[in-house]
Amino acid sequence: MATSSTLSLLPHLFSLALLLCISLVQGLNPKCDTSDQGSTLQVFHVSSPCSPFRPSEPLSWEESVLQMQAKDQARLQYFSSLVGTGRKSFVPVASGRQIIQSPTYIVRAKVGTPAQTFLLAMDTSNDAAWIPCTGCLGCSSAFFAADKSTSFKTLGCQAPQCKQVPKPTCTANACSFNLTYGGSSIAANLSQDNITLADDSIPYYTFGCIQKTTGSSVPPQGLLGLGRGPLSLLSQTHNLYKSTFSYCLPSFKSPNFSGSLRLGTVGQPIRLKYTPLLKNPRRSSLYYVKLVAIKVGRKVVDIPPSALAFNPTTGAGTVIDSGTVFTRLVEPAYVAVRNEFRRRVKNVNVISLGGFDTCYSGNIVAPTVTFMFPGLNMSLGADNLLIHSTAGSISCLAMAAAPDNVNSVLNVIANMQQQNHRVLFDVPNSRLGVSRERCT
Ligand SMILES: *[C@@H]1O[C@H](CO)[C@@H](O)[C@H](O)[C@H]1NC(C)=O
Ligand SMILES: *[C@@H]1O[C@H](CO)[C@@H](O)[C@H](O)[C@H]1NC(C)=O
Ligand SMILES: *[C@@H]1O[C@H](CO)[C@@H](O)[C@H](O)[C@H]1NC(C)=O
Ligand SMILES: *[C@@H]1O[C@H](CO)[C@@H](O)[C@H](O)[C@H]1NC(C)=O
Ligand SMILES: *[C@@H]1O[C@H](CO)[C@@H](O)[C@H](O)[C@H]1NC(C)=O
Repeated sequence: MATSSTLSLLPHLFSLALLLCISLVQGLNPKCDTSDQGSTLQVFHVSSPCSPFRPSEPLSWEESVLQMQAKDQARLQYFSSLVGTGRKSFVPVASGRQIIQSPTYIVRAKVGTPAQTFLLAMDTSNDAAWIPCTGCLGCSSAFFAADKSTSFKTLGCQAPQCKQVPKPTCTANACSFNLTYGGSSIAANLSQDNITLADDSIPYYTFGCIQKTTGSSVPPQGLLGLGRGPLSLLSQTHNLYKSTFSYCLPSFKSPNFSGSLRLGTVGQPIRLKYTPLLKNPRRSSLYYVKLVAIKVGRKVVDIPPSALAFNPTTGAGTVIDSGTVFTRLVEPAYVAVRNEFRRRVKNVNVISLGGFDTCYSGNIVAPTVTFMFPGLNMSLGADNLLIHSTAGSISCLAMAAAPDNVNSVLNVIANMQQQNHRVLFDVPNSRLGVSRERCT
C-alpha cells in the first residue's frame, strides 16, 4: 500500500516508465493462481499468503488486531458522516466523502483489450469502480495502460454517465472529477472499457481512471464497489447479473483459503433463509437489514428497542458490510451482549486488548451469539466470535461498541462475523439470504 512519488518523471520518460510499471503490477502468489470460472471469482483476504498486499514483515497478532481496529474506526466514521448529516443523497461513481477504507478482501478483474489483470478491493458499501491509470501521479505500482487497450475510451462531458459524477469538470472534453478518499484525494477521468470478471465479459464498463492521488488510502490496484447506485457494477450489469450476488468470505485463520464471489442468479444456493433488505434513500448503496434481537446462548438479551430501530433520517439501524472487520453495536446493545457473554463464560479474569474489552487468558468456551432478523436467525459459533492470539494465550470477543466520538447510531455486521457463511444479496427481491458454508 506504499505510495510513491517515483513517477514524477519528465514527460519524455513516460513511455519507459510505462513499460516498467506494467511489469510491476503485482499478482497473486502463483500457488494460489487457479483461474476463476463461470461467474464465480475467488476472494482472497488481503493478508493471506496468496495476496501481494500482505505485510512484508508479518505483524504480531496484537499489531494486526490493533491495525484492523484502527481501520474499522475510520470506516465507521465514514458511515456516520454519510447517514447523519441530512445531505441529499447522491450516488456518484465514487462519493466525495470516503474514508480510509482498508480493503479486506480482493478479487481479480481483467480490464481492456488485450486484458490487463488487477486485484480489486471488494466493497459492498460503495458504488465506486476505479483503477489507477498510466501516468497516475502518486499511485503505487499498479497501472492500467489505457493507451495499450484498443477498447478504451475516455467519456466526454456530454455523456449521460457524466451527470452521475459529483461536480464533473471538462478538460479537453474529458469528463473529469475530483474526490476525497480518507486521507487521499483522487483526480480521475470518467472512462469506459470492457472488463472481464471470471468468464464474463462486460463491454463498455464505466469507471474512474485515476490520474492523480495524494495520500495512501487508495487501494493499490483499484476498487470494485458492490453497492447498488446508478453507476455501480450491479446497475451496469443488470441484464447479466440481475443485481444478484453472493459471497463466502474465507476466515483469517486459514489464510491460504480463498472464498468466492458469485455474480448473478445462476448457481446460487436454494436452501437459504432470507430477511428483507431495507433502503435508506440518504445512502442508497448501504445494505440495511432489520436486526430485531440478539441471543447469547439461549437468552434474548435486553436491548432498548431504540438501539436497533431503523431510522433513515438519523441513519440509525443495522448494515451488513464486507469492509469492516469487527462487528460494532451501539453502546446499550453491545453492553447487553457483552455482559451476558461474560456471565456465561464464567471466567472472572476479564482483560482488555486495544478496543476489545472482553478478553481472557487461554482458551474459553464461548456461548453461541445469534443475530435475529425477521425470517432469519444468524447463529455465530466460536469461529465467528473469538479471535485468538497466535500462541493461543489470549482469546477476545471480536466485537465492540460503536465508537463514541461519532454519531453512534449504526450497528455494523462486519466481515469476521460473516466468515464461512454464504451471504446472498438479492436486490430485485429486496432480501438478504444467509446460510453456513465452509469457504474453501
Ligand atoms: C472488448 O470489447 C471489444 C469490442 O466489443 C471486443 O472486440 C474485445 O474482444 C473485448 N475484449 C475483451 C478482453 O473481452
Ligand atoms: C484524462 O483527462 C485529461 C484532461 O482532463 C487528459 O489530459 C488525459 O490524457 C486523460 N487521460 C486519459 C488516460 O484519457
Ligand atoms: C482536480 O484536481 C486536479 C489535480 O490535482 C487539479 O488540477 C484541478 O484543479 C482539480 N479540479 C477541481 C475542480 O478541483
Ligand atoms: C495452506 O498452506 C499450508 C502451508 O503452505 C499447507 O500445508 C496447507 O495444505 C494449505 N491449505 C490449503 C487448503 O491449501
Ligand atoms: C429464530 O429463533 C427464534 C427464537 O429462538 C424462533 O422463535 C424463530 O422461529 C426463529 N426464526 C427462524 C426464521 O428460524
